[in-house]
Amino acid sequence: MTVWREAVGTPAARVEGPAKVTGRAGYTYDRPMTDPAYAYPVQATIARGRVTSIDSTAAAGVEGVLAVVTHRDAARLADTGDAELAVLQSDEVGFRGQFVGVVVAETPQAARYAAGLVRVEYEQWPHDTELRADRPGLYAPEQVNGGFVTDTDEGDVDAALEAAAVTVDRVYTTPMEFNNPMEPHASVAVWDPGEWAPGGGFAEDARLTLFDSTQGPHVVRSTLAQVFGLPPERVRVISPYVGGGFGSKGMPHAHNVLAVLAARAVPGRPVKLALTRQQMFALAGHRTPTIQRVRLGAGADGRLTAVAHEVVEHTSAIKEFAEQTAVGARMMYAAPNRRTSHRLAALDVPVPSWMRAPGEAPGFFALEVAMDELAQACGLDPIELRARNDPEVDPESGRPWSGRHLVRCLREGAARFGWAERTAPGTRLVGRELVGLGVAASTYPYYRFPGSRAVVEYEGGGRYTVRIGAADIGTGAWTALTQIAADALGCRLRAVRVEIGDSDLPAATVAGGSSGTTSWGSAVVAACRAFRHVYGEQPPAGAEAGADMPDDDPDAERFAMHSFGAQFAEVRVDADTGEVRVPRMLGVFSVGRVVNPRTARSQFIGGMTMGLSMALHERGVLDHRTGHVINHDLAEYHIATHADVVDVDAVWLDEEDVHAGPLGARGIGEIGIVGAAAAIANAVHNAAGVRVRDLPITPDVLLR
Ligand code: MOS
Repeated sequence: MTVWREAVGTPAARVEGPAKVTGRAGYTYDRPMTDPAYAYPVQATIARGRVTSIDSTAAAGVEGVLAVVTHRDAARLADTGDAELAVLQSDEVGFRGQFVGVVVAETPQAARYAAGLVRVEYEQWPHDTELRADRPGLYAPEQVNGGFVTDTDEGDVDAALEAAAVTVDRVYTTPMEFNNPMEPHASVAVWDPGEWAPGGGFAEDARLTLFDSTQGPHVVRSTLAQVFGLPPERVRVISPYVGGGFGSKGMPHAHNVLAVLAARAVPGRPVKLALTRQQMFALAGHRTPTIQRVRLGAGADGRLTAVAHEVVEHTSAIKEFAEQTAVGARMMYAAPNRRTSHRLAALDVPVPSWMRAPGEAPGFFALEVAMDELAQACGLDPIELRARNDPEVDPESGRPWSGRHLVRCLREGAARFGWAERTAPGTRLVGRELVGLGVAASTYPYYRFPGSRAVVEYEGGGRYTVRIGAADIGTGAWTALTQIAADALGCRLRAVRVEIGDSDLPAATVAGGSSGTTSWGSAVVAACRAFRHVYGEQPPAGAEAGADMPDDDPDAERFAMHSFGAQFAEVRVDADTGEVRVPRMLGVFSVGRVVNPRTARSQFIGGMTMGLSMALHERGVLDHRTGHVINHDLAEYHIATHADVVDVDAVWLDEEDVHAGPLGARGIGEIGIVGAAAAIANAVHNAAGVRVRDLPITPDVLLR
């Protein structure tokens, strides 16, 4: 028989593409169900306090209303340790928009109408939603997201800054930002048989099925099993198609629990709950605003002697999430003296969470604009400055890089982008537009999370099925895993069918941290090898073998493993209105092996587009009087639209990282956003001579 090794590296079309474009792909809320009921939440209208009374008489009287559930009658949860998920467990309100009830009805219209009739009265307590760097009560969290230490201090930063020939000392800010995947968060919960034991517990045989728009069905299953006190095998989470997540669907949120509580009111019936776009702004996580002080010290030749990156950001008072904003500054440049810190204000705000490249995305806006300022102060080209500060080994761990090709990315991008045509700031006027070019560096760590398993079955007739409970949130995972399996089995792409998106499939880690392809792919490779080891090339029909992702990753202990990239932007600033246009962006990335150039390109340019959006548009506005995110929809929370995105291109180095597991790939989902906003801000400076340190870059700032 012929052994094929032709799938990985080819631009295979999305295997689920036909189902998606013909409407056959069943997204969570749209899935046909027998006799569904519909849930609509009631949300708190105060930022902090206590519910004193709830009158649901009028709501209950609406035709078609089946139940109104509030903290007075909601089931007691087994585990309320996660305050975000302790839904309807007490009368306390921790942020505006928090769930205080849910209406279940025969139609979505009746549920929504009735929810508006629920009368809730409150005792209001003083609240505080305003982040400032000088506010009292800032604290150092025990660690920051990703398990990183909160602070680092290497060498003597103060002495190095004192002695430096050139210094930059600036404060950069980024606003509250919101994930807006096309498909809003949705859950459909079914209790079967739905018997409840006395005392509010669950019957021995109760089973919960949750159709969910999630980045990790297994994570949702294990979390909800714990929250509801069920053995995990009695919970099933199904999520074959997911319309984007970007981190906001990376862990269960309150609406998952609310849907399950609502379904208790109608045992055996599926209860559908979809957050509205407006509700997502309080309930689907957000990126914390950041206040970042960056200090750089360098010799006259631009060689860095000190890097200090000190971050102030917020978390919700009810649950801590500490974005790892300064972590990238620990490894990026060769300064011997480095200090990073994170301080949090615990505010009466919705719970922040993951948003594409948490940490690096806001952190590299500050760091990479600061590097541009240093280049200017030293009279150096920004690419040359970065080349001079490219460390031989990881400054933080002292380990050799598995492959650090940042300078190659910068030089390659410079040649492709026409960097040589860049002029001095504010000197290139074309018509009534100031034209400028900007660059920024980008990085993202290699993550391969343990805990995934894949199973291969031979169906006969030359066909294989590969099963793993992974999630394709639009990234192309479905296709990439098919390619990986085909090569590992040595068969044609079309001989392999992959099944994902169901917690009844073998365990899989979350689609997060740009780790999906590397983690799940490693499990798939291991399973395919195990299959061939047992059955050889001529398996009997029905033959099956599985394997866990190998736990040991010795190279990850020996090498510093990060992807890198160079972001380029051209901007045109209208000299009369201050309006910024971005006619061109180019990203050059070094990410190890690329499994599928078509879906990879889509990830890169998608990330860069989010970066453009971050640079020019996105800003959540909290009204501190009410704790309300006032621009909580796509009419007022601006994101880049088609007309804003002209020519965004991405290329990558042809390489394989031999230390990055069996695939040689380091992950690509997040690096596209990192540095993109800085490249635009730096281009704005080159165009107009105005240094903008606060995002987003709006016309009023440039006119001033
Ligand atoms: Mo991503 S923010 O790790 O889902």
